[in-house]
Amino acid sequence: GATIPIAPADAQPERQQPSKLDECRRCDLWQYATQAVGGEGPKKAQIMLVGEQPGDQEDLAGKAFIGPAGKLLDRVFEAAGLERREIYLTNAVKHFKWEPRGKRRLHKTPAQREVEACHYWLDKELASVKPKVIVALGATALKSVIGNGNAKLGESLGKAIRHEDRWVVTVYHPSYILRVPDEEAKHQAFKVMVDGLKLAQSLLE
Ligand code: URA
Repeated sequence: GATIPIAPADAQPERQQPSKLDECRRCDLWQYATQAVGGEGPKKAQIMLVGEQPGDQEDLAGKAFIGPAGKLLDRVFEAAGLERREIYLTNAVKHFKWEPRGKRRLHKTPAQREVEACHYWLDKELASVKPKVIVALGATALKSVIGNGNAKLGESLGKAIRHEDRWVVTVYHPSYILRVPDEEAKHQAFKVMVDGLKLAQSLLE
């Protein structure tokens, strides 16, 4: 008679250990995204900047930080005297998570399990780039970089902490600054980011 194939207990291990980012199925976000967006920058950059996840424009183009948040980051780099091309830029989560709002795709904060699933890729980037300093942009990045239990944005903001043999400097996420309605508060938040990047740079000296 016909034999019915029985899947081994850990069928399709490549699903758990994908070799290509765009083929990653470690969580479900790939289904709704155009493509995965990996990090970019010098292979041995001394500073690695970690954001949350690609936004609408990044999802379409396949490049990190090219939309409004990226434009704001460019202003921060300039004010801090840093060159974007010397920094490795990546995200805690590599697929865009969104919900429809009319014709627009509205960013949705990734769930902890999605951040954890994607940590696989951040670990690979950390192992190959070996940055001396990580700049975490906002709470999701901080949770991913130092582990959820220890992550308190309010306590870490603007500070350098030592974690697993490197420095982690936490600043606001650029999208937060774009959302602050009050000009004075916006200016203050921008300054926190600029000072954080200057602090990151000073840790290399
Ligand atoms: N926000 C992020 O955190 N990362 C991007 O790449 C774009 C927007």
